[in-house]
Amino acid sequence: MLNFEFKNPTKIIFGKDRIEELPKEIPANAKILMLYGGGSIKLNGIYEQVKEALKDFEVLEFGGIPANPEYEILLKALKIIKEQGVTYLLAVGGGSVIDGTKFLSSAALYKGDDPWEILSKAIRTEKGMPFGTVLTIPATGSEMNSGAVITRAETREKLGMGGPGLFPEFSILDPQVVKTLPERQLANGITDAFTHVLEQYMTYPAGAQLQDRFAESIMQTLIELSPKILKDPSDYEAASNFMWCCTMALNGLIQKGVPTDWAVHAMGHELTAIYGIDHARTLAIVAPSHYRYNFSSKKEKLAQYAERVWNVTEGSVEEKAKAGIDKTEAFFHSLNIATSLSEYTENYEGTAAVIAKRFTERGWKGLGERKSLSPSDVEKIIEMSY
Ligand code: NZQ
Ligand code: ZN
Repeated sequence: MLNFEFKNPTKIIFGKDRIEELPKEIPANAKILMLYGGGSIKLNGIYEQVKEALKDFEVLEFGGIPANPEYEILLKALKIIKEQGVTYLLAVGGGSVIDGTKFLSSAALYKGDDPWEILSKAIRTEKGMPFGTVLTIPATGSEMNSGAVITRAETREKLGMGGPGLFPEFSILDPQVVKTLPERQLANGITDAFTHVLEQYMTYPAGAQLQDRFAESIMQTLIELSPKILKDPSDYEAASNFMWCCTMALNGLIQKGVPTDWAVHAMGHELTAIYGIDHARTLAIVAPSHYRYNFSSKKEKLAQYAERVWNVTEGSVEEKAKAGIDKTEAFFHSLNIATSLSEYTENYEGTAAVIAKRFTERGWKGLGERKSLSPSDVEKIIEMSY
């Protein structure tokens, strides 16, 4: 097992009807900016619940943060924060709203002139404006981690940021929010969380027995609950397990003491930046090719995964490992998620070269658990995903 440090300060408030507990978590004299997305919270009652809970607070609102939170829109919220003297941010939404709020938390205290530098220069946020979240869609784990991904349409970029100052102070997780999610978002959430686990697991054996079992149990639980939740998102038991799996998949716990990959996300983010494909779907496009391309360095973990998660008991290490990849792809298909780029766009030819060039221009640091993948490897992996 590798050396590690672990600190996760986010308080989780989990369960039915917990939104009403918001006042206990926010300082009484706070001037709050409540941030949300395109309006789903106004259709499913979450908006009213939050407003009712905060009726004794001074609350400003900023709605309209789109999926893949857009930098130019966030700058408008930043202006409000600065001009109105906002002291506390409350994200009510999914990964996009929470990530947008993390950017604002950082940008509100940023001393430089151009807040885009936080992303372009990968400036770590040690301290941000305090914020909490009310999660409305299980998927990213952003509600209990310190990372964010921001999109800039003007330059077709999607870049990450983070730092210890960007953990939410608290996150309210009421699984009842799942019942209004459309099938597409349910499938996205399962796929995103599943791939988060893969990114922290599908590397090489590191003798971290407990972390491996944690990871495998999250994947098994997601596999088990996915037909139930797709059939009936108002199934509270399935929804609560779904929500907790997604949070646990990316709150830092399972990555401690093990090598991590994250190449699938790095390549997937480019597909979202170029084609606007949903985040989770880009992962389903890239992951199978990534594992096939890197078969020799990942086969031990692929075989362990096939055995323990998919009950593949027959065959050599290579045969089991191959079955593991096939099972993963079949799982995505069972969620109605297509795994080839050509199923999302007709203009896929040339994509691999464009992405490889982008990575080169940004200053190549190497991808994968050994930082050994070059832009030409990326090009081949994306080509295999066509
Ligand atoms: O905008 P509204 O109208 O609210 O609709 C949203 C949006 O269209 C809708 N929705 C959310 N809750 C709902 C609901 N519809 C009905 N009922 C509800 N209860 O769902 C749509 C998708 O929302 P979004 O927040 O975009 O989804 P998700 O949570 O999947 O977030 C995706 C973003 O997070 C980033 C992705 O790159 C992407 O930008 N990620 C963030 C990570 C992190 N911070 O740790 C890690 C991830 O790997 C990922 O990169
Ligand atoms: Zn993800």
